Amino acid sequence: MTDTFIEIIRFVISFCHVMAASTWFAGSLISLNINNLIKINQSFERIFDHFTNWTNTIISTLVLTGVILILDSISRIDSKVYIFILILKLFLFIWITLILYINRYKSYYFNKRNIYNNFIKLLIQSKLIFPITVVIFLLSELLNIIRI
Ligand code: HEM
Repeated sequence: MTDTFIEIIRFVISFCHVMAASTWFAGSLISLNINNLIKINQSFERIFDHFTNWTNTIISTLVLTGVILILDSISRIDSKVYIFILILKLFLFIWITLILYINRYKSYYFNKRNIYNNFIKLLIQSKLIFPITVVIFLLSELLNIIRI
């Protein structure tokens, strides 16, 4: 009975995590082509605005469900490769979160032209969000394979 209950909780948490991840994937794919899409149809702008309003919720859901999944898997898994891939995944996640928030609240500081700022600008390009998300999906599948 308790085992079945734990399995149901595990399923619900994984489901919420994958749903939030898929929404993130779709949003980041649309953001790649948003300028062209708006040229085709103006309503894409409103749809994308809706998505931007949801980003905080999506990120919070990913972190909350992700932490629960980590606590669940760490107690059962004793693989260094698993831990390494998990850390890599978290690093990439922090990277895309930084891209998002630095671009949203970009200060006048980045308008100054110097080598350091140019390098930071390369690392925080919005265009990077989609490819990094794809790598995160690949790493998540690897985690799943290692766990089994
Ligand atoms: C853009 C962000 C993220 C994406 C796209 C993503 C994607 C996914 C996907 C698709 C899975 C399911 C793999 C499967 O069962 O087939 C998964 C599992 C998981 N995710 Fe995430 N995730 C993201 C962020 C996070 C964060 C922030 C954390 C931790 C705080 C996290 C921790 C985990 C853990 C521990 C699992 C279970 C891995 C396993 O099967 O052992 N994820 N993720």
